[in-house]
Amino acid sequence: MAVNLKGRSFLTLMDYSRDEIRYLLDLSKKLKADKRAGRTGDSLKGKNVLLLFEKSSTRTRSSFEVGVTQEGGGVTFLDNRHSQFGKKESLEDSAKVFGRLYDGIEYRGYEQSVVEALARYSGVPVYNGLTDVDHPTQILADLLTIEEHIAKPLSDVKVVFCGDTRNNMAYAWMYGCAKMGMKFVAYGPRELAPQDAILEAVRGVAAGSGAEIGFSSDIRSVEGADVLYTDIWASMGEEDRIPERVKLLAPYKVTTDLLEATGNPNVLFMHCLPSFHDFETDMAKEQYELGYDIREVTDEVFRSAHSVVFDEAENRMHTIKAILVATLT
Ligand code: CP
Ligand code: NVA
Repeated sequence: MAVNLKGRSFLTLMDYSRDEIRYLLDLSKKLKADKRAGRTGDSLKGKNVLLLFEKSSTRTRSSFEVGVTQEGGGVTFLDNRHSQFGKKESLEDSAKVFGRLYDGIEYRGYEQSVVEALARYSGVPVYNGLTDVDHPTQILADLLTIEEHIAKPLSDVKVVFCGDTRNNMAYAWMYGCAKMGMKFVAYGPRELAPQDAILEAVRGVAAGSGAEIGFSSDIRSVEGADVLYTDIWASMGEEDRIPERVKLLAPYKVTTDLLEATGNPNVLFMHCLPSFHDFETDMAKEQYELGYDIREVTDEVFRSAHSVVFDEAENRMHTIKAILVATLT
């Protein structure tokens, strides 16, 4: 059956079928090849997309701006500091206004219920640019990156997510792997294990796709991994938890030893970024002076030939552009 995503929101990969995700990956590849060949289109001409951010962003904002602009459309950036959003006006009223003015809305913030309400009240496609529990556009970029680097079907690929396995990236990976029939291990401390309800939901999907989704604190669970993935240990809004996170997560730092424990000489290191891998940031330096080493990966691994982190960053743009083209045209 032909895939048609026109008018659809992109709130979580759980709303998308395997065929629809496949379609978006193939469209991303085509748009990427076109851009590399110097071809950009005008498929978003006359379309305006709102970029609404309640949390900071480098890659996601840039990818939406560049993706829309390359296809001839326009964007508006709003945050809650310089708009009425979340202050003088209800979510429902703001969403209705946005729906009158924009063809699509990207939202980054805290609760998943906000991105769902924006979709419900605005009546236009809404794109989840990260919430506390999901980051679906990142997974699309990461799946594309895996397909570019690993010469086997996604259904044969094993991804191990190391560290805070209760965060938005871990959950987004669980959803993506469950849909695409992949093997996924959340490798981290029991205290930060994925919530049971989420594990149950993804295992329901996995039963139909052939995926294997598990949690483990045992280093042997990284054996046979094709990808070791990690993320910062304290997500946006959780900075006050750094002391407890460093204590819990230090054993799950991605090191050369961990790469070797996979037994796969070609294992990929992946990370959504931003990453603490050295002391070049004020935050890493300040925390180190307080006695906390917040690096979730060694600089050696981050800069190694295994690392494809900047390919992932570039692929954010191609995949986000594909989502926009598929849902708005
Ligand atoms: N990976 C990612 O979402 O990056 P930003 O926070 O910079 O958007
Ligand atoms: N888990 C991180 C992801 C950043 C892209 C955060 O939410 O801050």
